[in-house]
Amino acid sequence: MSTDYDVVIRNASIVDGTGAPCFAASIGIRGDRISTVGQIAEHGAIELEARGLTVAPGFIDVHSHDDWAVLLDPEMDFKVMQGITTDIVGNCGMGAAPNPAAAVIFRALHGPSAKVPEWTDYAGYLRAVDENPPNLNVAVLAGHGSLRLGAMGNAKREPTQGEMATMRGWLRDAIDAGAVGLSTGLVYEPGRYARTEEIIELASVMRGSGALYASHMRNEAAGLLDSIRETIRIGADAGLAVQISHHKASGMENWGMVRESLKLIDAARAAGHDVTADQYPYTSGSTVLAAVIQNGGLDESGARGGMGIVPPERILLASMPSRPDWEGKRLDEIAAEMDLGAIEAARKIVGEDPGTVVVLDLMSEDDVRLVMTHRSTMIGSDGLAMGGKPHPRLYGTFPRVIGHYAREGGLMSLEEAIHRMTGMAAEKFHLRDRGVVREGAFADLVIFDAKEILDTGTYADPRRYPAGISHVLVNGTAVVRDGAHRGSRPGRALRRQI
Ligand code: ZN
Ligand code: CU
Repeated sequence: MSTDYDVVIRNASIVDGTGAPCFAASIGIRGDRISTVGQIAEHGAIELEARGLTVAPGFIDVHSHDDWAVLLDPEMDFKVMQGITTDIVGNCGMGAAPNPAAAVIFRALHGPSAKVPEWTDYAGYLRAVDENPPNLNVAVLAGHGSLRLGAMGNAKREPTQGEMATMRGWLRDAIDAGAVGLSTGLVYEPGRYARTEEIIELASVMRGSGALYASHMRNEAAGLLDSIRETIRIGADAGLAVQISHHKASGMENWGMVRESLKLIDAARAAGHDVTADQYPYTSGSTVLAAVIQNGGLDESGARGGMGIVPPERILLASMPSRPDWEGKRLDEIAAEMDLGAIEAARKIVGEDPGTVVVLDLMSEDDVRLVMTHRSTMIGSDGLAMGGKPHPRLYGTFPRVIGHYAREGGLMSLEEAIHRMTGMAAEKFHLRDRGVVREGAFADLVIFDAKEILDTGTYADPRRYPAGISHVLVNGTAVVRDGAHRGSRPGRALRRQI
């Protein structure tokens, strides 16, 4: 018996990532690429029977914060077990370089003693990933917050010409090294001190490179529409494609506003601008408690702040290393226990643990559905890999879109859901030969039961692997086999290719 292929996946229903209808075929893999899609008589060294199962391109998580996680926890079980084969890190302005400035941001998330290899710039970061490969591929966005922190600390002013030149130089280097774009986090320090013009001037160095501009916008609440306009303007003036991060209307008083923000996106697209967005499939978000306070979420100024008004009973404490007994409790409960008002309690918590992360129930289900079905939307988990009780999106985002929203909710076809997680993302972020099942493409694949796939985690119990996923391959090598995680670490640093 000759083994002409390294892996053969037999009798699969293939959803190829382009949005085209599924079709029946077998897939033959040689090395890290798909060499045949069709009838296969020859044998594979590994044979995977996929009768009754669906084979799709591995999911591309366009919105992740795993810059350090892929090095600290290269097994990345919470990602590959949900079918993710590529992480795009560096979102929300929080990028991995330049060091040591960028390290400040990630130490807040991973703790002061977390140890990663040393690098200074984005080329060094990508090398560190290649030298310590995780279980999935990693593409990187340069983070404006990190660049600004490195150039001018947390200064609440415009950059000087010299500081701007420094940031532009670093960004140019990042793009030359293969970064897929620049991200901003304009509700966070230090991004919130940047005016529109600063970002345009900085982002302009990417013009013509194929790199894009991704933004956690200045205001996702009452100021949502102005923020969308600002983001589109930055893209237009700098000559870049735009990715709106976690598109939503935050705060009950602003629910329904996505009807208008989607119209602004439609208008920009009709005018020829490449504007898309990403979304996680939940009505709750998650971020650091410090940012909630800073945006006025807990006081009256929240009506104008970037997150809207955040009632304390809608805040769950997710991770607080010094008080694990509070993890999973609501802020109003903790405040009562402390005999303090909500805002005083929050300040005290942040004083003790500055990196305390919360889960915030701020969106409407109708809005989530409306955004999800819009043609501009792809999927990104925005998961934060940390201790405690992370938002369940870290484990369940992609199976939830397919199982809960597409299959059970009837929001879209399987093909459409997969397209938003794969082909659409690979094209936008210039990840060549990824995100599609076709001959010559990389063998990043997920094999699942379309009738069973579903997220299983809850806010109280988030660390649960999804149901229905049998095998996950990254660059031709199984990282999940028969539903079980295996640590062969075939991931790579991906560099933008146009
Ligand atoms: Zn964000
Ligand atoms: Cu984010």
